[in-house]
Amino acid sequence: MNCPFSPHADVVPPVWAGREDQLRDWSDVVRPRRLAGLPERGRTILGEPGLGKSSLLSKIAGDAADHGDWVTKQLRIPSKSDPLKVVAAAVLKLADMAGLPTKREKRLGDLIARVSQISIKGYGLSLREADGPEPFTSLTELLVEIGIAAIHKGDVVVLIHIDEVQNITDEHMLSQLLIALGDAMSHEIQVKAPGGYLVDRLLPISVYLTGLPDFADMSSARRGATFARRFATTTLETFGDDDLEAALQPFVLSGWEVPDELGGRRLVTMEPGARDGILELCKGEPFLFQLAGEKAWYSGSTDVITREQVITGWQQSARDEAAGHVERILERLPGRERELLDAMIELPDEDRSLKNIAHAMGFESSSQIGPIAQRLDTNRKIIARGRLYSFRNRAIEAYLSSDWPDVE
Ligand SMILES: Nc1ncnc2c1ncn2[C@@H]1O[C@H](COP(=O)(O)OP(=O)(O)OP(=O)(O)O)[C@@H](O)[C@H]1O
Ligand SMILES: [Mg+2]
Repeated sequence: MNCPFSPHADVVPPVWAGREDQLRDWSDVVRPRRLAGLPERGRTILGEPGLGKSSLLSKIAGDAADHGDWVTKQLRIPSKSDPLKVVAAAVLKLADMAGLPTKREKRLGDLIARVSQISIKGYGLSLREADGPEPFTSLTELLVEIGIAAIHKGDVVVLIHIDEVQNITDEHMLSQLLIALGDAMSHEIQVKAPGGYLVDRLLPISVYLTGLPDFADMSSARRGATFARRFATTTLETFGDDDLEAALQPFVLSGWEVPDELGGRRLVTMEPGARDGILELCKGEPFLFQLAGEKAWYSGSTDVITREQVITGWQQSARDEAAGHVERILERLPGRERELLDAMIELPDEDRSLKNIAHAMGFESSSQIGPIAQRLDTNRKIIARGRLYSFRNRAIEAYLSSDWPDVE
């Protein structure tokens, strides 16, 4: 009942590791600066499947909600769906939190009615009703009203999180949506400062976008410059062992507290060797970290998690899932990128220069694979370029070059 490991999507796992830079960026930069009316771009957080993008945003949204911020639930965009409907519905909920529907201003009532129409009819609305204002404009207008209400409430940030953004494949729809959100973030209003004079400030609104690295291509293609001015992009990488060791330290040092059957508390501890076992098995992948921990937790009933339990749990019930996880990442790669990884694996570590890799792939010159290597490095963080190339993603490297996820 109280296993603290959780290989489920989209929940904040009780055993949390790393991501300190991103958490601090929210709590020390984005939130305070937006509260103070200062410019701060929205954030885009990308990464390969299972790297913890949704969990990270759940954690940030949880922190925001604890501060009393107005937070949308994670707005997931299913593929081929109409993102405008999803976002409009969420903005209406924010308007509720802001108490806007209870104000009896006609202008606000009309605005809310327009956005309600968008939440029902979506993007098609702009095609059908060509005379009225563009639906995206109404969305921005309502967001501005919500932002103003947040200023009046005080110490409140409006946080909008759109997940799986790579599924917004319609060019026009994506750029309009980003402009609508960006316009709300860059909308200036005049407020009266304590000295009685008027000053300009921005609204306390912040937008986070999360999704697969493919989004970087879509968003950089044509509207690259506008996008970069409105959103700062980071790409998540797998964990280093120090992050995971720190996450497991409470088990090793003092024990993890769980309720017992008698209404009291007991402590579950972990041998250092068990911790090292989890680190070796999961190769820094957040999902595999949770999986290895969960299987170890269930493979024994004592209050000490042993190395043997870690290995048995993995071998009996995690290894297939672990293989499936890595295969899913590999399957999504375009052919050339996959070939480059295979070529790297074939070469001994000390021969992994760009030139040798290009030759192994059948190319004459290394410049022909430059862009492929760049994407694997910058967009996906699977490899690291340099004089010699190496793997950043240890699970992919182990899967392609050894028996892992099988273990003795
Ligand atoms: N900081 C973290 N510490 C420990 N475990 C984590 C962390 N972040 C995510 N995880 C675990 O990794 C797994 C995947 O997380 P999540 O679903 O957030 O990934 P994702 O990047 O959104 O994946 P997808 O691309 O498939 O949507 C979950 O089991 C989650 O518990
Ligand atoms: Mg996700």
